[in-house]
Amino acid sequence: MDKKNIKYYDAFSESYEVERHKGYHKMLDDLETQIVYKYLKESSNVLELGCGTGLILQRVKDRCKNSFGIDISLGMLKKAKPKKLNKILQGDLTALPYKDDTFDLLYSFKVLAHVKEMKKAFSEFDRVLSKDGVMILEFYNKSSIRYLVKMLKSPTNTSKEFDDEAILTRYDSKNELKKLIGNDFHIEAIRGVRIFTVVAQLYKIPIISNIIDFLERKLCDSFLGNFGGFLILIIKRKN
Ligand SMILES: C[S@@+](CC[C@H](N)C(=O)[O-])C[C@H]1O[C@@H](n2cnc3c(N)ncnc32)[C@H](O)[C@@H]1O
Repeated sequence: MDKKNIKYYDAFSESYEVERHKGYHKMLDDLETQIVYKYLKESSNVLELGCGTGLILQRVKDRCKNSFGIDISLGMLKKAKPKKLNKILQGDLTALPYKDDTFDLLYSFKVLAHVKEMKKAFSEFDRVLSKDGVMILEFYNKSSIRYLVKMLKSPTNTSKEFDDEAILTRYDSKNELKKLIGNDFHIEAIRGVRIFTVVAQLYKIPIISNIIDFLERKLCDSFLGNFGGFLILIIKRKN
């Protein structure tokens, strides 16, 4: 297991949900949850990879047959407990403790950019996904203003206590992601998130925040989605 990630998220767990229910974070969680709803069926067995404090899983659990969550941080999972998510456990998504062909839907948000062994992780996702299953996986996008801002920013220039640059953070291009999923899978659709939110602080400015929020929600599935700071890929097996 990645000890640095565990330490970081165990410490972050205490404050992770502060401000999570409004503004910028609400926009992220809403756009992520809605795309899960689109592919979810009442009969689905679902797994959230890196479920954290269960913010998204709690919105999904009553809409499917079985919902599971796995996360590397016990601190984050402790915060998920009161949400009555009974199938959550500690584990690493690069070595999933589930049988082959178990899930109809796998999803992961704000996690995979922090996973070094993505090839190994993806082969695990492939193994536990059913034949007609769907993966909804979010990555950080190299073709985005967010990445440009990151490149221009000095690495020490951060005022936040928990900044994800403190742990491994990878940005991928669409071509790199295509290579990762290999020839047996294809990307059916892309939702882009943080297309216009150059820096999250824009959400603190009245009127500007309303405009940005409107645009993010309206255009996430348009061509502009390809340039979102976060790329959510809908991945299916080729027939
Ligand atoms: C930013 S949080 C996101 C949590 C949740 N997906 C959400 O959207 O609120 C990232 C989560 O990924 C988990 N994580 C990081 N690396 C992991 C790994 N290799 N296996 C499982 N979970 C991991 C962290 O512990 C943390 O809870």
